[in-house]
Formats: sequence, C-alpha cells, structure tokens
Amino acid sequence: MKLNFLYSNIQADVAAIEEELRRAVASEQAPLIEEAALQLLDAGGKRIRPIFVCLTARLGQFEWNQVEQAAVAVELIHMASIVHDDVVDDADVRRGRPTIKSKWGNHVAMYTGDFLFAKSLEYMTKILNPEAHQVLSNVTVELAVGEIEQLRAKYNFDQNVRTYLRRIKRKTALLIAASCQLGGIVAQLDPKMHRKLFLFGYYVGMSFQITDDILDFTGSEKSLGKPAGEDLRQGNITLPVFFAMEDKDFQMKLRDITEQTSKDEMQTFIKEIKASGAIKKSEAVAENYLQKAIAILEEFPPSKELRPLKQIVQFLDKRKY
Ligand code: IPE
Ligand code: IPE
Ligand code: MG
Ligand code: MG
Repeated sequence: MKLNFLYSNIQADVAAIEEELRRAVASEQAPLIEEAALQLLDAGGKRIRPIFVCLTARLGQFEWNQVEQAAVAVELIHMASIVHDDVVDDADVRRGRPTIKSKWGNHVAMYTGDFLFAKSLEYMTKILNPEAHQVLSNVTVELAVGEIEQLRAKYNFDQNVRTYLRRIKRKTALLIAASCQLGGIVAQLDPKMHRKLFLFGYYVGMSFQITDDILDFTGSEKSLGKPAGEDLRQGNITLPVFFAMEDKDFQMKLRDITEQTSKDEMQTFIKEIKASGAIKKSEAVAENYLQKAIAILEEFPPSKELRPLKQIVQFLDKRKY
C-alpha cells in the first residue's frame, strides 16, 4: 500500500522526516541495534502517523522543526511497538523482510524496541509544549496496556466485543489520534480543535486496526507474510470472529483452537468465517468509523488543507493489503 498520491503535497516533508529517522537510529555505541533498526526503517512502511502530523499541522501556523520532532517521535514509538509486537506474536515477516526477532532473536528485538522508545523520548522533549509531552507519554503507556490486555484475553471466547474495541483503541487508535492531535498542538490551533483532531485520528485508527484484522482472514499468505488466520490460531479474537461466534455451534468449534491447530484446519475455520457474513459486517463497522472521521473534518472551517486528510480516509476505505 503506497500513499504516493499524497506525496506531491508533502514529499519534501516526508523526505526530511526520513533523514531525521535515520539519524535517530544511528548509534555508535550499539552497532547491532543500529543495524536492526535500520533494516526496519529501510523495509519501508507507510509512515502514516508522521504524515498525519504533517497534514494536521498544516491546518495552522507552525515551525517546521517542531512538526519534524513530533513526526519523528510518533514514528519511533510505532517502530518500537511493532518490534516488540513481533516478539509477542512470534512473527517472522514485517514489511516484507525478516523481523528483528527472527533474524537476531528475542533479546536483540527487546533492546531494539527499548532503544527506539528511548529515542522517541529524546524527540518528544524537543517539542516545546508540555501538552505534547503528556499526549505522547499517555499513548505510550496505553499501547503497553493494550498489548498486555490482548495477551490476557487470548483464547478467551467468553469476552465481549467491547473488550476488543477497548484493546484496539489502546494498541492502535490512540497513537494515530495522538499523531493528529500533535499536529494541531505544534501548529498552535485552538485547543477545541486539538480535541477534534484527536477524535478524527481515533476514528481513523479504529477503522485501521479493524481492517488489519479483516485482512488477516481475507489476505493471502504472500501479502500477509504469514498464513491467513494466524491471529485466530494464536488466540487473538478479532471483530470477524465476534460476528462469526453469534452462531453458537460454530463458537463451540472455535473453542478447540490452540497453537497446535494446523494450517489446513485453520483453512476450514477461515472458510466458515467468510461464509458467515462476518467479514461484511466487520467491513461495515470499519466503514462506519471512517464516516465518523469524515464527519469530524466537516466541522473544520473550509480549507484546502483538509483535502489530503479526506483523501487518506477515502484511501483507507479501499485498503486491500
Ligand atoms: C501496523 O501498522 C500495525 C497496526 C497498527 C495494524 P502499519 O500498517 O502502519 O505499519 P507500517 O508502518 O506501514 O509498516
Ligand atoms: C498491531 O497489532 C501492533 C501494534 C499496534 C503494536 P497486530 O499484531 O494486529 O499488528 P500486525 O498485524 O502484527 O501488524
Ligand atoms: Mg502482530
Ligand atoms: Mg499483535
């Protein structure tokens, strides 16, 4: 998935952030960590969080340096979280390349994640606004809580959809919300607008993770870098599963899933989930969040700077991988 269509607007900004990210991960003291972090950086990624910082900042008046610090800080937090997430999820591929944990092992991945979090702190503190510090420290805590909650909820087929929504809010939506809010903060928008931008990012983020969870069932092994249904095999109950569980007989079958369940057996589950209409229902929920995001943008005074934000939302609506 490429956000190229946006880059004509903010190409120079993204290039500058990219350079700063490379400087951020450079470490003379720990060449192994630098190598690992650089591999993740070079593998690509959409940089959607820094892009949101840049685009929301354009709604106000900003000093570029402040936007850049915020953009780099959020991407570093994101990078740290995915390095750790791949340890927890035992993932071998990230951004089409071997994960840090698979190439260098869990210990290196742990410290690389810690290093990236610590580096984000360095950038955070260069943002000359205590509200920004608060937003970023909060979101970092919430992220960790979200991942822990997910661990605790594994293979628990008795949980309800509200616990799922709370989890994805913490592990994904809040960082995107924070990215949008930070743009507003560094651009010195009216505090009422900060809240609106936060909500916009929250809705986008919720939809983003739900789509990611749908793709785990509908994507191919090649596009996912892991077999389809891997979330469920690992006991991570996502929105399509909640919908499919409305069929109580099917729910009983799902309860037999363990990490030992084979790829072939998972195929049967995936087929049944697809046939149940659960994917369509989940897509409708994701779409609904995006509509709410668009509605928030409608509340802003008309400006051409809103256009790329709307374009991202429309683009995410059609995300297929
Ligand atoms: C992956 O995030 C983790 C989720 C929150 C679903 P992205 O899809 O933004 O990952 P990259 O940065 O583009 O690789
Ligand atoms: C998203 O969780 C990762 C974080 C927000 C930390 P997932 O485990 O669902 O994401 P992918 O599929 O590995 O990118
Ligand atoms: Mg994962
Ligand atoms: Mg995960």
